[in-house]
Amino acid sequence: MQYFPIFLDTTDLNCLVVGAGEVAARKVELLLKTSASITVVAPIVCDTVQAFAKEGKIKLINRAYGEADLSNQQMVFVATDNSELNTLIHDQARAQKILVNVVDNTPLCQFITPSIVDRAPITIAISSGGVAPVLLRYLRQKLESVIPHNVGLLGQFSNKFRGSVKRRFKSVTERRYFWEDVLEGDIAESVLQGNAQVAQQKFLTKLNATDTAKTRGEVYLVGAGPGDPDLLTFKALRLMQKADLVVYDRLVSPEILELVRRDAEKIYVGKAKSKHSVPQNEINDLLVKKALAGNRVVRLKGGDPFIFGRGGEELETLVEHGVRFQVVPGITAANGAASYAGIPLTHRDHAKSVVFATGHLQDNSINLNWQGLAQPDQTIVFYMGLTGLAIICEQLVKHGLANTTPIAMVQSATTTHQKVITGTFKDIQQKAEDAGIKPPALIIVGSVVSLHKKLNWRSDS
Ligand SMILES: C[S@@+](CC[C@H](N)C(=O)[O-])C[C@H]1O[C@@H](n2cnc3c(N)ncnc32)[C@H](O)[C@@H]1O
Repeated sequence: MQYFPIFLDTTDLNCLVVGAGEVAARKVELLLKTSASITVVAPIVCDTVQAFAKEGKIKLINRAYGEADLSNQQMVFVATDNSELNTLIHDQARAQKILVNVVDNTPLCQFITPSIVDRAPITIAISSGGVAPVLLRYLRQKLESVIPHNVGLLGQFSNKFRGSVKRRFKSVTERRYFWEDVLEGDIAESVLQGNAQVAQQKFLTKLNATDTAKTRGEVYLVGAGPGDPDLLTFKALRLMQKADLVVYDRLVSPEILELVRRDAEKIYVGKAKSKHSVPQNEINDLLVKKALAGNRVVRLKGGDPFIFGRGGEELETLVEHGVRFQVVPGITAANGAASYAGIPLTHRDHAKSVVFATGHLQDNSINLNWQGLAQPDQTIVFYMGLTGLAIICEQLVKHGLANTTPIAMVQSATTTHQKVITGTFKDIQQKAEDAGIKPPALIIVGSVVSLHKKLNWRSDS
């Protein structure tokens, strides 16, 4: 290890920045997050650094650098565009045992600044020692995506109760178990949601309990999106990875299921059309039973749980039984299909409104407000409309839309099996048959469909 990673206490630290262009300004910005005293010396000063000086955040010496500027400094950043001067300052700083960093010149850096994920008081610093900056950026993005945005609140919370936990549990192992339980459970969830008071209450109850084992469970109603795992939200992924148990539907893709915590029990309750594998009331009861047994239950649904997902019904049952829950929205199939097929659902020249409707057939008809739907400057997205396609076309024409209105069908939207066909009311049924369109599929009706030819960005459809 060429570079020794340390976190430096910046209280009473004097730091000099030589140069005051935009590169120097970035370093000053970073330093301003700390409590170091910052002095900048340079004959020419950019607006950003000028502004810092005006606001009293830094001391600005508006002239050329001289060796005397190093006196009383413990650290120096060199960011001038004169390489000879940079080398000279480096040598002078080293001779005076002052930590020196010449920006973008690793051989002249006694220390380097790492890439930072800043969730104060939690700070993650990573470095490749200057050899693989792109890999570093990639890893940092990965870290950003798995660490909750407000994890800093958890840091503050832990700090507040460190002493009490130490007094309550004698052994390090006991303390570790206790903290792991807190950090993976509903107390941490409350902290992350900003419910500090609720979290504190739960924490103290847990701390003072004689039996610190399992507490009451909870249900997370999570939208898994339309299929592409990259469309999951960070929160969905986080909750999936702490689940004791996952109850999932047919529309949840295997790739998404792969992301659930390995040891979690996985229960399939998917419904195929006209073949309810598990009746809805049984699903509701299952969620209640598992949560009351102390489990963290993830109820994973395709798309968004509140769009034709019966999520509301499941929550009502949870409320009746006093089971706590959270809801995580997902990208609904209409949004996923529209984006991945290059069909904007609204457009100034085509559609001023968009309606999501169910095309589900009941007794061979679809009970909808057809007059309200058949508007020329409106986009309609039909879910579950594959078998009702003929009725949909017929009713929309009957209520005033032209026979030539553009219509699209998107099968398995956002997945690698996505298929898109377009046509008009006149020919879409034949085209769907020829293309062998199967569920899950969406129907998009309206002038926006004509944009598909121009905006289709996926080579597979
Ligand atoms: C019971 S609804 C569930 C909708 C889901 N809650 C959502 O927000 O997308 C099922 C219907 O959604 C549509 N659907 C879901 N995922 C789809 C996908 N990847 N591609 C096309 N249609 C999809 C189909 O019309 C399917 O019949």
